[in-house]
Amino acid sequence: MLRRFDIHARTLLFSLLCALFIGNATAEESSGDTSHFIVYKHPLCFCCKKWIKHLQDNKLQASSIFKVDMQSVKRQWGIPRGMEGCHTAVWQGRFVFEGHVPAQYIQKFLTSPPEGGIGLIVPGMPIGSPGMEAKDKFEPYNIYLLLIDGDYRLYARIEKPDAV
Ligand code: CU
Ligand code: CU
Repeated sequence: MLRRFDIHARTLLFSLLCALFIGNATAEESSGDTSHFIVYKHPLCFCCKKWIKHLQDNKLQASSIFKVDMQSVKRQWGIPRGMEGCHTAVWQGRFVFEGHVPAQYIQKFLTSPPEGGIGLIVPGMPIGSPGMEAKDKFEPYNIYLLLIDGDYRLYARIEKPDAV
């Protein structure tokens, strides 16, 4: 019981840290190659690292670029305010995947990008999403389709962890 609480508390702490970083503000420029996913993340955020491993486990290549000012990355890639996750992944400079998007849905999106779609967003940090595993804890969440005009709409609803 204590152990479970411990894991949950740790996850919450990471979420809080990540949430803080979403609103942080010092710039640090760098460039990346465009052959695979470039994941912009705060250097001290751990759930992003776990999410990158989830990508790699699903045969999606990714490398990370540390950014202290994650807000500017999100504005640059057109993530609507209030829809931010912790990390921002960019595929070949064309498509953007914000937050803890499951690899399966990224693959689905890349296989057939919906008309006008420029990426997928999982806002916040839902417990039980890839990179946010916490034993048997799971919080249903939505995946949104980000449109080129800055609007978004529902892409998928994840009700169960095994759908990830
Ligand atoms: Cu996160
Ligand atoms: Cu993170």
